[in-house]
This record gives sequence, C-alpha cells and structure tokens, in this order.
Amino acid sequence: MKFAVLSGDGIGPEVMSVALDVMKVVSKKFNFTYEYTEALVGGAAIDAKGKALPDETVQICRANDAILFGSVGGPKWETLPPNEQPERGALLPLRKIFGLYANLRPAICYKELIESSPIKSSIIPNGFDMLVMRELTGGIYFGQPKGTTQTANGERAVDTLVYETAEIERACHIAFKAARNRRKHVTLIDKANVLESSLLWRKIFKQIAAQYSDVQTAFMYVDNAAMQVLRNPSQFDVMLCENMFGDILSDEVAAATGSLGLLPSASLAEGTFGLYEPSGGSAPDIAGKGIANPIAQILSVALMLEYSFNQLNAANAIRGAVHKVIAKGIRTADIASPGCTKVDTAGMGQAIAAEIA
Ligand code: IPM
Ligand code: MG
Repeated sequence: MKFAVLSGDGIGPEVMSVALDVMKVVSKKFNFTYEYTEALVGGAAIDAKGKALPDETVQICRANDAILFGSVGGPKWETLPPNEQPERGALLPLRKIFGLYANLRPAICYKELIESSPIKSSIIPNGFDMLVMRELTGGIYFGQPKGTTQTANGERAVDTLVYETAEIERACHIAFKAARNRRKHVTLIDKANVLESSLLWRKIFKQIAAQYSDVQTAFMYVDNAAMQVLRNPSQFDVMLCENMFGDILSDEVAAATGSLGLLPSASLAEGTFGLYEPSGGSAPDIAGKGIANPIAQILSVALMLEYSFNQLNAANAIRGAVHKVIAKGIRTADIASPGCTKVDTAGMGQAIAAEIA
C-alpha cells in the first residue's frame, strides 16, 4: 500500500495529520503495512515552486497507487489568473492526468445530527444517506472548442458540453455497482428536455441498466432534482450526474447534511488508482486554530482503503467508529449542540482512533 499525501492549504495539513494517525491505528488493528510520500500542492506549491501542481508532485503521484488529498486555496492566491489559482491549477489537471473520471460524493445526514441540517427535521426524521456519482473528466469542463474571441460587437465566449458513448458507459457502470452495495436505486439527473447530450446519457443509461436488473432506476431533470433535494432527500440513493450538474448538486446535497466537515469523496480512474479528498474546502477562516472537523479527511482514508487497497473491513471499521463517536455526543465546533462533549481536531481524531482500537 503506497500512497501520496498532498495536504495543501488551510485546514488541509492539520486534518491530514489526524487522518494519518487514524490510518496508523487501523493498520495495526487490521494487520497491514503501508508507506506514504508527501508532496506539495496548491497555494503551498505556488509559494515554494511557482506552480499549483509542480512536476515533481505529479511524479510522486505516479509512483504511488493512490493520492490522499487535503484541500487547496485561500485568499492569498485569489488574485492570480483563474487558471493558476490553487483549485483550478491543481485539481483539474490532476483529474485529467490520472483519468479520474468517477467522482463519488457520499452524503450522510446522521440521525444524531438532524438538527445541524438546514432541512426541517419533520422532512428528514431519520436523516438521509445518498451518493452523488459525478462524471469528472468530460462534459462542459473540458469540451472543445473552449475560449474567448473578439467579435465586431465585443467578445464571444464558448464552452462545449460534449459526451461520447464510452465516457457515459463507464460512469454508468460505477453508479450501478455502487448502488448494488447500497439501496439498489439510481436516479439519472439530466436536462433531457433541452440538451442533446442528456438524450445520449438517457439512451446509454437505459442500455447499461439492463445489465443490472436488480437495480431500480429513475430519471429526473436537474432543476427538479435541485428542488427534490430540499423537499424529500430520502428518495435518493445514487444520483448519477454529468460533470457540471454533479458539481452543483453535490454542494447542495453536502449543505443539506449540515456540515461540510463530514463529507469525503473519491475520484476514481480505471483500475484501482484514486484520489481521495474531503468535499469541503480549505476553510481559511479557521485554519491553524486546531478546531476543524477532521472527519471528512478520516472518511477519505476509509474510501481509499476500500477502493484503492481492497480493505473493506478496515474502511467499515473507520466508518463505524465515526458514527459511534457522533452518537456519543463528541463534537467539533461545526456540529456542536447543547449538551455535547466539545473537542478540537486532535480530540476528535483520538476519539475515533480509540473507538477503532
Ligand atoms: C469541486 C470544485 C471544483 C470543480 C473547482 C474548484 C474547479 O468545485 O471539486 O467540486 O468545479 O470541480
Ligand atoms: Mg464544486
């Protein structure tokens, strides 16, 4: 088990160090060994090397079997040209270089944390548990032509939303396989009443669905889906989205759980290579204070163990420990409630590690 550790900026390094402590405990418990190599990314890399994704960082990632990613970005680098900023300058090229086409963003609203959700508890009496599966290397993010040209009247800016059969097929397979380990339901999110590319998604989705007859399917326009997430989130199990719809809906779904500090994500390539990162950002406002919630980073370790290293039991042990600690009322500031036991970043890590051990 060899992985690259790219902690990045903001709260990245502090939550990463706690997540690596948990990795140590889980490796002892489940009897496996691992090694990791750290590399610079994001603003930290811009400051040290002049580039958000230096070549040597890419080389270190290539020499490993997975990337454990922290978070990048912050006010210090916001005045750079957009393509050079930490987020775009590091994340988009990493996705492209490593072919990370399948982005899994599980969003659980634990029953114990319903009060943290902006959704009324009468709507989600049992919380919710859904998985946004976002296609990550195609669509309007990368389609050609792209660019801005001068015209007689001003400027003309173009982005292209394009998908080909194979890109849709492989995304569908990941969604159906994920559904098999869950509640066996996939909703395809599209805009098939307007977009040509959505028609192709529907057509291919139906073909692939025939190979997973044990999984139920549904179709929903993206505007309706945005509304349904607020009205009845429990109806969703797996939401399969093209790149930009998935970008937007995954933030909405994340907000609906109550805290960004709880949500991990996996970005998978063909085979077992993957990049694992918290869904929330670098949270510059609380960086360096030791109060950030490390759970998203810890659950990212669980996803890495499951998808890149085939250690499902270890992954489930981490998830179980996280839920137990929350159920015991141990809380970081972002999910604190009256009567809870308040802890800092390190305290949360220790509580989870103790639960695993
Ligand atoms: C995300 C982010 C990125 C995206 C940005 C930072 C390029 O919003 O991972 O969801 O749009 O994909
Ligand atoms: Mg986003």
